[in-house]
Amino acid sequence: MPYPILQTERLTLRVLQLEDSPSYQHYLLDNQAHLQPWEPERQPDYFSPEACEARIAQFNQQFISGTGFPFSVWLEDRMIGICHFSNVVRGAFQACHLGYAIAADCEGKALMHEAVQAGLDYVFLHQGLHRVMANYVPENARSAALLRSLGFEQEGIAKAYLRINGSWRDHVLTALIAPSSPD
Ligand SMILES: CC(C)(COP(=O)(O)OP(=O)(O)OC[C@H]1O[C@@H](n2cnc3c(N)ncnc32)[C@H](O)[C@@H]1OP(=O)(O)O)[C@@H](O)C(=O)NCCC(=O)NCCS
Repeated sequence: MPYPILQTERLTLRVLQLEDSPSYQHYLLDNQAHLQPWEPERQPDYFSPEACEARIAQFNQQFISGTGFPFSVWLEDRMIGICHFSNVVRGAFQACHLGYAIAADCEGKALMHEAVQAGLDYVFLHQGLHRVMANYVPENARSAALLRSLGFEQEGIAKAYLRINGSWRDHVLTALIAPSSPD
């Protein structure tokens, strides 16, 4: 399957390639403090060039095997975020999880909304998925607002759901169903 390049009004979404590794590392290092409260604890070697390259290889493997659609988000020639559809399950489920993040200086401009909307259109229309699930810690107000603006609905609360920033955290579970899923 050819790699998709998703173009929006302001952004480009695409799967990272090995030559993007310095941009990816730069994004992670620049946003370390911004992302830390909302992500799993990262060991120092997570940010090394070798680790970045290894994850890029995994992203490509996920895309090729159809288990994930790990998009990086670009504003002109700068990587500013991620929009990652993972854990794709086919069969009767046709579902996946969604993770996202945007650089600190790009928050508050509806850029993440624009990127995730393009990603959702891709997984629903081009990949035929039926359900996308996205979960957040209750105090992540920006994440809650983003999901609400995209039409995600709350489905419940999961106790001690993910180990975020060093501790097991309850999460609000939300999901979006494809706009026109055939029976
Ligand atoms: C969660 C996260 C991606 C949300 O990003 P965001 O920029 O707030 O989300 P959106 O793209 O929906 O943008 C909404 C903002 O754009 C503004 N906006 C809306 N329409 C706009 C437009 N047409 N032009 C410019 N700005 C606009 C909104 O007013 C809102 O800003 P405000 O909250 O300051 O009022 C971001 O906070 C982040 O990366 N956090 C760290 C990582 C993280 O939490 N990941 C998710 C874990 S579950």
